[in-house]
Amino acid sequence: MAVLVSGGGTNLQALLDALRDSPVARIDRVVSNRADAAALARAGRATVRTIVLANPDDPAEIVAAVGHARLVVLAGYLKRIPAAAVARLKWRVINIHPALLPAFGGPGMYGLRVHEAVLASGAARSGATVHYVDEEYDRGPIIAQWPVPVRRDDTPATLAARVLEVEHRLLPLVVEELARRGVPPEPVKLSFEEKGIHD
Ligand code: GRF
Repeated sequence: MAVLVSGGGTNLQALLDALRDSPVARIDRVVSNRADAAALARAGRATVRTIVLANPDDPAEIVAAVGHARLVVLAGYLKRIPAAAVARLKWRVINIHPALLPAFGGPGMYGLRVHEAVLASGAARSGATVHYVDEEYDRGPIIAQWPVPVRRDDTPATLAARVLEVEHRLLPLVVEELARRGVPPEPVKLSFEEKGIHD
């Protein structure tokens, strides 16, 4: 797979760690729109090839950068994938979002803003969502979710930390299961109840 990143790369690290000895899934390359993304250093330490995009809005460059990867994982990648690249890579690009989509997604909903919005809404639960990427931000079919409780004394930072912890567990589970299934050509919905994912 190819992993696309823009920032710190803790989800990338979770994938690197979880898939180190995986018989089904391997991180072939890490692609970033930012040369200074800390995630690139994580890839380097794991001796995974890194690519920095010159123009992340160029669909041909994105398609070339992911190469022959069967699966493309957006792990904290903050740019929109251009529509022509989405069309070429249909149902092969997935994203992790730090809330229970379809709520609290869309343009501008990233980082602490997501958790601020969840707290402002009074929602009792938040969580992590892995979904397919289509032409709209955070709108593609949902693959799997992992809920966490929202606590009365939460701040955006404490809620973010609780969600991030489950992101790091959910993303490798989804990636390995999709790989095990040969990256299906149509959207699939996965459930990991046996792994203890529940309210
Ligand atoms: C995560 O919260 C992820 O859900 C969102 O961006 C954040 C990336 O964090 N898309 P990291 O770079 O993986 O640490």
